[in-house]
Amino acid sequence: MSDIRHAAVITGASSGIGLAYARQLSQRGYDLILVARRKERLEQLAFTLEEHSRSNVTTIVADLANEADLRRVQNVFAERGDISVLVNNAGVGALGPTSKVDVSIVENLVKVNVLALTTLSLAALSAFKARGHGLLVNIASVIALGPSVTAAAYSGSKAYVLNFSRSLEQEYAESGITVQTILPGPVKSEFFAASGVSSPGFPEELFMTADTLVETAMRAVDMKENVTFPTLADSALWTEFESARKKFYKSVLVTGKPAARYASGK
Ligand SMILES: NC(=O)c1ccc[n+]([C@@H]2O[C@H](COP(=O)([O-])OP(=O)(O)OC[C@H]3O[C@@H](n4cnc5c(N)ncnc54)[C@H](OP(=O)(O)O)[C@@H]3O)[C@@H](O)[C@H]2O)c1
Repeated sequence: MSDIRHAAVITGASSGIGLAYARQLSQRGYDLILVARRKERLEQLAFTLEEHSRSNVTTIVADLANEADLRRVQNVFAERGDISVLVNNAGVGALGPTSKVDVSIVENLVKVNVLALTTLSLAALSAFKARGHGLLVNIASVIALGPSVTAAAYSGSKAYVLNFSRSLEQEYAESGITVQTILPGPVKSEFFAASGVSSPGFPEELFMTADTLVETAMRAVDMKENVTFPTLADSALWTEFESARKKFYKSVLVTGKPAARYASGK
């Protein structure tokens, strides 16, 4: 390992996938900046990681749905010259039919899953650009690929994460900066409980542990993969999906005239 210190910012580091990232990036020698609302959890984690690794760990207690807190986290990218990784992991589900979920919970989801992820992605990219390298990891979900009656805002937010991150991936393709989008299936964590769901409704065998997910995602970065479906056995299916999408997109942009089926019968 080189003596040059690199730091990683991980949002939502107090549990689940973020916590697994914190452990595994500290094993890879990164200093850490851990972000979440639960102060005690972050401090306990920082203490344990510093005891068992060479990492220096900073904690930022912040509610990413709160504008002032988000700015504090955003500013870290300009204040510190050593950050080369951002894992935009903090996220919430607001699960259930929209008629049963309070609008404030849905608004909170948009602030955390969409607004904070966007703001921090741009802050990180601006810092990475100045240094000519960096890794941005955005956690989407396989639910990004389709609508869901019990996760309208969640699936919408993850579709945003997918398109936003892939657009950044293209923008920064030749820059030395890597943008990785991860689309996990169900993962063992506090996610469903935090959304007020006692039984997630997926069979047990569909769940991956957070540690396995992060190991897989980090291996995928080492393999220079930008879009990672950790459980996808046949990667040719994603290539086919993408070709179908591109073909469809082209067929929508052939003419400015309405299609024949919309012609009035008069
Ligand atoms: N679990 C799954 O099945 C699954 C599948 C696909 C994708 N994902 C995605 O994976 C990511 C991590 O989820 P997880 O499964 O690890 O769930 P989790 O155990 O509930 O972790 C969510 C993390 O986000 C943080 N967080 C939530 N609201 C926040 C806020 N307002 N400000 C700051 N931090 C906040 C939480 O910390 P505090 O409560 O301490 O703030 C916690 O550390 C999410 O983006 C989720 O959408 C999860």
